[in-house]
Parts: sequence; structure tokens; C-alpha cells
Amino acid sequence: MGLQAKKPLSSTLIIITLAAALIPITKLLCSHLSIPFPTFQFSLTIVASSLILYIYSNSKNKKHSAPLPPGPTSVPIFGNWLQVGNDLNHRVLASMSQTYGPIFLLKLGSKNLVVVSDPELATQVLHSQGVEFGSRPRNVVFDIFTGNGQDMVFTVYGDHWRKMRRIMTLPFFTNKVVQNYSDMWEQEMDLVVQDLKANEVVVRSEGIVIRRRLQLMLYNIMYRMMFDAKFESQEDPLFIQATRFNSERSRLAQSFEYNYGDFIPLLRPFLRGYLNKCKDLQTRRLAFFNNYYVDKRRKIMAANGDKHKISCAMDHIIDAQMKGEISEENVIYIVENINVAAIETTLWSMEWAIAELVNHPAVQAKIRDEISSVLKGEPVTESNLNQLPYLQATVKETLRLHTPIPLLVPHMNLEEAKLGGYTIPKESKVVVNAWWLANNPSWWGENPEEFRPERFLEEERGTDAVAGGKVDFRFVPFGVGRRSCPGIILALPILGLVIAKLVSDFQMDAPNETKIDVSEKGGQFSLHIANHSTVLFHPIN
Ligand code: HEM
Repeated sequence: MGLQAKKPLSSTLIIITLAAALIPITKLLCSHLSIPFPTFQFSLTIVASSLILYIYSNSKNKKHSAPLPPGPTSVPIFGNWLQVGNDLNHRVLASMSQTYGPIFLLKLGSKNLVVVSDPELATQVLHSQGVEFGSRPRNVVFDIFTGNGQDMVFTVYGDHWRKMRRIMTLPFFTNKVVQNYSDMWEQEMDLVVQDLKANEVVVRSEGIVIRRRLQLMLYNIMYRMMFDAKFESQEDPLFIQATRFNSERSRLAQSFEYNYGDFIPLLRPFLRGYLNKCKDLQTRRLAFFNNYYVDKRRKIMAANGDKHKISCAMDHIIDAQMKGEISEENVIYIVENINVAAIETTLWSMEWAIAELVNHPAVQAKIRDEISSVLKGEPVTESNLNQLPYLQATVKETLRLHTPIPLLVPHMNLEEAKLGGYTIPKESKVVVNAWWLANNPSWWGENPEEFRPERFLEEERGTDAVAGGKVDFRFVPFGVGRRSCPGIILALPILGLVIAKLVSDFQMDAPNETKIDVSEKGGQFSLHIANHSTVLFHPIN
């Protein structure tokens, strides 16, 4: 798996570093005060550094009744940041958990990062102590993209979050919504199949990068649900603008480039250029959503007056605003949330699934066999997905191996809390390493790195729920509990249907009988495939 544990800096090393830093300062002082700089001053430097370290590490532990979670020794101002670096991805954190245990603490400048890596503790964070750990930390960049928490995904746990979640549930996250829209989802998917068949010669000989077409399909699914609007083609100028705005938003928000200014408030002035770029993008992006989509719905609603029939999610949400439940800003931040939370995650999952299916033709064949033996020629629809366990296992296996949000969206405790016998200082960023829970050989037996949907089938589920009653906390790609993903009700059937349709109509292969590259590219908390590969589609009659 290529996990490389980073060794902690020992206290001695820290003393030496501090001493080294203090020598030039002492030297400077000595020269200013015309005092020679002999060995005595050097010794003084060492003693002073030890004292600083002692006072610092003592002050860290003394205030709390229970100790802080273990972790590498940190230095003032920078904490552990210089040791651990910027890219604290799921693999690095998994390897650190092997050194420091299932819960550990990293100081990143002025911020605390608590990492949870076992199912028992994940149950505590997400379920039993879901209220205590139910807030979200933001950072200087997310503050801009969420208007300081006027959205739903990044807002603190409290009345505003409850209201937003309730208002979004009715138009997006109920069984009725799934029933109402599943025919439309299928239409959009059938158009993808039609396009591939219409370009049969090209797609079977040269292949295509399917991502862009699937992106259009997902935007259409979500924009039809949200605004009753759709894009004509990949060349539609509005589609080009929407995807540019959203991908630039993700790039800026998920980058590690701004960590220094986020971790160390003293350095924040140097981040001004970056933050201005984010603000400028956000202003133009929200204006785009407003001008082309939200305002259109407002006008239609106003023109129809009392006779208006609510016909998309935005109508519900504008209605809630007109009743005074939420503000105009909240409306636009709901649009912002759906554009990233819904579309990107589902698109990444599709890309991972297709890549693994191409690399595992036997899995494609098994899905095909299951569909034909169970449905006997009937088409796959949302309502018969539950009769196709192997297909569902394939979706799960994709999310297990390539968890799109591998550390979940970070949680936060507004007040000091206790977890696993440790004190968690207030306002710590608490991440659950969902990817490691789903890929740790201790819980998944041999070869968790292998793509094998069978592991989710009934006969193999000997190692059932490790913790948390009925919920298997080893597999939580959507989180669990209060802040879990409400979009699971849409994402799972959409993923199942797309895979079923593509596999039923095509044999998918990599060009030149190679394998698709499944290297990862991560961000602050996202994980997607690094290269958008070309896939050959051979129609099946
Ligand atoms: C495969 C696709 C998806 C994955 C893997 C995924 C994953 C997640 C995860 C891990 C969280 C955070 C859970 C936590 O912090 O404990 C989350 C939150 C959220 N997701 Fe999804 N999601 C997906 C699709 C969707 C879709 C389709 C929608 C909407 C239509 C959506 C809307 C949201 C929202 C609004 C939240 C914030 C919930 C809150 O903070 O209360 N997601 N998602």
C-alpha cells in the first residue's frame, strides 16, 4: 500500500533546532552589547531552549483533566506542520495511526487536528457524541466560499444548520423525490448510451474520455432537479461556464497552497492575493447562478402568482425564503453546495467505477449475467436495483477502495470534549479516516487493495458490524449520523443505474489491452482519479 510512517522529531532534536535558532539571536545581542560570544552563551542558549520546550509541553497538558491524544512533539508557532508537511492525505494519516494509535493529535500552527482511525472511535464521533462533534471547522478559504457558513455543508451545528437541512430535505432527499425523478435520470443516461452508439466507429477503435460526457449527464440530472433547466451539449456556453466556475472553485478550495496562512495567523497577510482570487471567483460564480438560474425561477413564480405549481427544488427553496425561513444569501449558498457536494462526488465515483470495471472485465461479465438472469430481458430501473446485489456490491466496492471523501467532511467540537479517554481541545478539526476504516487489513482480511465486489455479498460477511449495532462503521463513505450525507438516497441509485446501463450495452476496455491508470489525486478532503483515461466501448448486441 506504500504507507510510509513519518518519524516524530524527538525532544532532543527540537532542543537542538531551537538552540540553533537562538545562537544567531544571542550572537547579535552579544555584538550589540559588545559582549564576546563564548561557550557560555552557547550553553545559555541550550538551557533557554530546554526551558521553552519544557514550559510549552507542560502548558499543553496541564490545563486538562485527561491527557491530550498522543502525537508527535510539536514546536511553538509551527506545531507539527514542518514535520508532517502540507499533504496530510488519508494514506499519510493511516500510516501515522500505526505509530500513534487510533486517535492522535497534530498541531498545525495554531490549529489542532485530531485523527480518528478505528470503527469504535468513529462511532463515538459520528453517532454517540454526534452533537459534540457535529460542527464543521472552516478555514480562510472556505469562509469565502460559504459566506462564513451561510450554507448547509460547512455551517456549525445549531439552529441554522437544522433549518437548512430541513428545507433541503423535502425537494432533494426523500423517496418521493427519487420516484419522481428516476425516469428523468434514466432518460439522461440513455442519451449517453445513444451518443456512444452514434459514434460507434470512434468509440470502439480510438475510444473516448467518457468523463466529459458523464459530467454533462450529471449536470443535467442535478440542474433539472434543481431548476428544471438543462444544457444542450458539451459545447453549450452555459455548461462551459458552470463547469469552469465549479472546477476553479474546487481547485482553489481543495489546494494545500494556502495552508501556511491558515495555520499561522501571522502569515495571513501574505495570503491576500490568493484570498482576493477566491473572492473574485465567488462573486462572479454566485452572480452566474443568480442571473441564469435562481432569478429565472423567481420571475416564473412571480408571473404565475398564486397559481404557481412548485416544479423544482429551487421553487421550494425560494418559497421558504418568501416565508421568511431563510435569507436570499442562504438560497444561493444552497445552489453553491449542490454544485460541489452533489455533482463532483458522484462524478468522481463514476470515473472510479468505470476505471475498475475496465481493469476487471470479469466483474463486467458478472454484472451482465446478474442482470440477464434476474431481470430476464426487462430493463434495469431504479425500482429493480434492489434485486441486483452484485451490482450494488460493485458500487460499494468502488466507494470502499476509492472513497471520494476519504476523511469525510471535517467535524469540529465547539466545546472541549472527551474522546477515547483523551481531552479534545475546543474547536479542534476532527477527521475520521473513512478510507482507512474501509481498507485496513485488520478488518478486511487479506488484500483489501484488491477490487473485489464479492466481499460485500452475504456469504462473505463473516466479519459483520464491528461497532455501532446495525451500522458497519468500517464502511462509511457517506458518513453516519447527524452530519452524514443526505445525498446518499440519490447517489447510490444514480451510480447503480449508470453502471448497469453502460455494462449492459458495452464491453468497456482500455486501449491497447493495457490497464487504466488508477493513480489518485487528493485535496483538502477530496480524492479523485488523477488522469481522465480513454475507454473503448464495444457495443453488445
Ligand atoms: C457518491 C457520491 C457522494 C459521496 C461519496 C458523498 C459523501 C459525503 C460525505 C462523506 C459527507 C460528509 C459526512 C460527514 O461529515 O460525516 C457528505 C455531506 C453532504 N453531502 Fe454528500 N456525498 C455524495 C453525494 C451527494 C449528493 C448527490 C448530494 C446532494 C444532492 C450530497 C449532499 C451533501 C450535503 C448537503 C452534505 C452536508 C451534510 C451536513 O453537513 O449536514 N452529497 N457527503
